[in-house]
Amino acid sequence: MTLLEGCIGVEDLVLLEPLEQESLIKNLQLRYEKGEIYTYIGNVLVSVNPYQQLPIYGPEFIAKYRDYTFYELKPHIYALANVAYQSLRDQDQDQCILITGESGAGKTEASKLVMTYVAAVCGEGERVNSVKEQLLQSNPVLEAFGNAKTIRNNNSSRFGKYMDVEFDFKGSPLGGVITNYLLEKSRVVKHLEGERNFHIFYQLLAGADPQLLKALKLERDTNGYAYLNPGASRVNGMDDTANFKALQSAMTVIGFSKEEIRQVLEVVALVLKLGNVELADEFQANGVPASGIRDGKGIQEIGEMVGLNSAELERALCSRTMETAKEKVVTALNVVQAQYARDALAKNVYSRLFNWLVNRINESIKVGTGEKRKVMGVLDIYGFEILEDNSFEQFVINYCNEKLQQVFIEITLKEEQEEYKREGIPWVKVDYFDNGIICNLIEHNQRGILAMLDEECLRPGMVSDSTFLAKLNQVFSKHDHYESKVTQNAQHQYDHSMGLSCFRICHYAGKVTYNVNSFIDKNNDLLFRDLSQAMWKAQHPLLRSLFPEGDPKQASLKRPPTAGVQFKGSVAILMKNLYSKRPNYIRCIKPNEHQQRGEFSSELVAIQTRYLGLLENVRVRRAGYAYRQAYGSFLERYRLLSRSTWLRWDGGDREGVEEVLGELSVSSEEVAFGKTKIFIRSPKTLFYLEDQRRLRIHQLATLIQKTYRGWRCRVHYQLMRKSQILISSWFRGNMQKKRYGKMKASALLIQAFVRGWKARKNYRKYFRSEAALTLSDFIYKSIARKFLLGLKNDLPSTNVLDRRWPAAPYKYFNTANHELQKLFYQWKCKKFRDQLSPKQVEVLREKLCASELFKGKKASYPQSVPIPFHGDYVGLQGNPKLQKLKGGEEGPVLVAETVMKVNRGNGKTSSRILLLTKGHMIISDTKNSRAKTVVALNSVAGVSVTSFKDGLFSLHLNEISSVGSKGDFLLVSKHVIELLTKMYRAVLDATQRQLPVTVTEEFSLRFKESSLAVKVIQGPGGGGNGKLSCKKKGSRCLEVTVQ
Ligand SMILES: Nc1ncnc2c1ncn2[C@@H]1O[C@H](COP(=O)(O)OP(=O)(O)OP(=O)(O)O)[C@@H](O)[C@H]1O
Ligand SMILES: [Mg+2]
Repeated sequence: MTLLEGCIGVEDLVLLEPLEQESLIKNLQLRYEKGEIYTYIGNVLVSVNPYQQLPIYGPEFIAKYRDYTFYELKPHIYALANVAYQSLRDQDQDQCILITGESGAGKTEASKLVMTYVAAVCGEGERVNSVKEQLLQSNPVLEAFGNAKTIRNNNSSRFGKYMDVEFDFKGSPLGGVITNYLLEKSRVVKHLEGERNFHIFYQLLAGADPQLLKALKLERDTNGYAYLNPGASRVNGMDDTANFKALQSAMTVIGFSKEEIRQVLEVVALVLKLGNVELADEFQANGVPASGIRDGKGIQEIGEMVGLNSAELERALCSRTMETAKEKVVTALNVVQAQYARDALAKNVYSRLFNWLVNRINESIKVGTGEKRKVMGVLDIYGFEILEDNSFEQFVINYCNEKLQQVFIEITLKEEQEEYKREGIPWVKVDYFDNGIICNLIEHNQRGILAMLDEECLRPGMVSDSTFLAKLNQVFSKHDHYESKVTQNAQHQYDHSMGLSCFRICHYAGKVTYNVNSFIDKNNDLLFRDLSQAMWKAQHPLLRSLFPEGDPKQASLKRPPTAGVQFKGSVAILMKNLYSKRPNYIRCIKPNEHQQRGEFSSELVAIQTRYLGLLENVRVRRAGYAYRQAYGSFLERYRLLSRSTWLRWDGGDREGVEEVLGELSVSSEEVAFGKTKIFIRSPKTLFYLEDQRRLRIHQLATLIQKTYRGWRCRVHYQLMRKSQILISSWFRGNMQKKRYGKMKASALLIQAFVRGWKARKNYRKYFRSEAALTLSDFIYKSIARKFLLGLKNDLPSTNVLDRRWPAAPYKYFNTANHELQKLFYQWKCKKFRDQLSPKQVEVLREKLCASELFKGKKASYPQSVPIPFHGDYVGLQGNPKLQKLKGGEEGPVLVAETVMKVNRGNGKTSSRILLLTKGHMIISDTKNSRAKTVVALNSVAGVSVTSFKDGLFSLHLNEISSVGSKGDFLLVSKHVIELLTKMYRAVLDATQRQLPVTVTEEFSLRFKESSLAVKVIQGPGGGGNGKLSCKKKGSRCLEVTVQ
């Protein structure tokens, strides 16, 4: 229950103190002014039109209300929709939502809110969503064609609508059926000033693009259409252009094809154009008045648009064919009759189009056969109307509202009280006004107003509206709810508001004076056959299908049922339908006549609460019981709450219910035991029962889960155990098999050994014991012989450079094979040496010496190895001039070549001829061949060379030498290796002294008084070609770069 604290007024009028008309209205007013438009009377919802958008709708609120029960949150239309939907889904009860109230009280808005709520909570899925969308989108279509602005309501429903939404067992919508009730078609041709025709006309003119308008031969200005005047073309807060777009998209969602939409709009355009067809007086030859079309253009356009011969249409509009069994008589219509025919045609076309639309929507949203369905009906019917001039339409609208009030009275007031009496529940009767008498006045089969009207329509002879009124006056002269000028006169009452052609009915909602003018006509609802035949001849498929009776083959002389009879029949079906469902009431109240937000007219609300019977409703509710159910079904639902009735109960239903309620300690004031039903006073107790049930279901579900899980585990365990035994038996068997195999193999092995041992023991006496050794010795030797013989045949060549040697066939010959290889090689070398001549020996010795001096020390050494030492590089033999240089020196010239002498003063080089003999080294100018310098080899103290590829060397002399006074030489030779090797050997031969040859990059040259440090560095080329460049660095340093 909602806590009372913090509430504005009371949220449920049942709690109102004191319970009076004034306090009830005050409570509604107080809540209304605080923006609380909804109030409960038990499970009935009272809604006061706020005339403004309140922030209490939308997904957030829907989510909130779907999770709570009816009384847990503030009163709301969502709470009512939720109860209806949940009882439909969970208790399998068909529901209907009855929305009542006068015009402009908010019924249509309420029905849309209910639909939106149900659509939001009733499941998801592609198909379900598309069904929902279609159901929701049927609204804008029906509103465009069936709603209009009236003085009371800018969007007044001018037809009644009952929509059955069908659900599957899960509560997902499957589709639906819409039933429509009597469209107020007179509006097509005539409406009051300040009102409008149906929205679609204005929407089409405002919203259609220029091409569409052109195709439909329409112009945008509404003033150009007789049927749209007089009246405002625009309505505040309503955007016709946007609504037209919404209408088109809604039609597409529902499944209308482009062609169908187009045809519908063409028919709408046809109606507009019909209004502009002007008729003029004409006379026949015999002077009888007739009529004709004033301007043929309009009718021509209609003809072109719907594929109709305009002459034929003109004939149908201006004449009438009377057909009897024997003959056909054509009579001309005068202007008034022709105008009547034109308007009748327009009204018929439009109302038939509306019926076609409803059927077409139904076709889209209908449910396939075969599924079990639950149904929720939503009734939104035109509200009770009291206009200045009330006609046949108001009469049927109010009759319908009267019937709905009867349903309410029957179910909530009468039936409920009678049920208490029937069930033997102590009850103090609450008085209320039963409107059965008014319903009877209108619908009684013989003596009802509708029956009288029908009788008058069918009666031969002169019939008119006034004869009908006279009949009413005669029959109902004594009726409490009927008045007219005649009855008033009879009672000597003076009432200037009552016209001569009027009668008045005291409806449940107030007195309404009806003008009988055109009652007969509207009830007859006749369309001259000429017109329906003309329409049937049209090429336009939709228009043609609206007039099937125009087909000459279908022509029948039987009168169609009157409008009154049809309406009464459909209301009767509706009532039957409503009685078969569980009703949910929304009572809409209009707070003021001006459609103003925040204005609350107490008088207006008081009238409505009075005729809606709200006070009586509260009284019955307060004294009565909120809930009742037959013992059987109650016990079925709640027997799980008691240990004695669950799982089995063998006693009677009533005793079972007593057991359950006793065990739950429900107070005796809260329940009453009727003859066949249990009555529960407050919803609180019912919610308590529901909560307990939910809890118990949880427990039972847990129990079922527990038992199931236990069973599953047990079965699983047993299976595992069986499997384990099987596996271990297989494993053990396998292990034993393997063990046995091993034991068997071991036994066989032992046996074999023993047998072998025994055999050997036996056979040993037949063989010498050393046989094996001899054998192995023999085998070894034969292998060695084979190896050596093989080697002999496979010896490599005797070339000393050939290092090849065959590999040993067995590993144990490796060492011997290696030794043999060494021996063979040494032998080969000896052979080679033996055949050398002494000269070759000398050459080799020199090469050996060069290797000892320079191998691995100087970069130019490897290049010098393959080049034989020539000694003579200047052509000494053929040059006696040079030979002279040798002077008297004995022995051969070892080396003769051109060297470069580096000037120690500036680092510049100049070429010299160098001769090396066994005792001297002679250096001379290249130009004159006189010896310039002669150095005795025993005065050479040492030689320095670089490690690079260059030919630089310095000759260090002993101080005592004869040339020593001049100092050391710095020379560059192209054959430095050969020159120095030969010098070394010559010094050794001459002095038995080993000439020190130093490989270094830094050395110093000594002179008489000073010395010069020489530093040799590698140039950027890395010294690859051995070229030199010398640079003096200061007076005592010479830097030589090897390029
Ligand atoms: N809950 C609401 N919130 C906001 N505005 C509302 C609400 N209910 C009604 N209205 C306003 O009141 C106007 C009239 O409501 P509605 O068309 O539902 O009346 P009705 O009872 O269907 O009237 P009729 O019998 O003429 O069809 C709506 O156009 C809307 O502006
Ligand atoms: Mg409405």
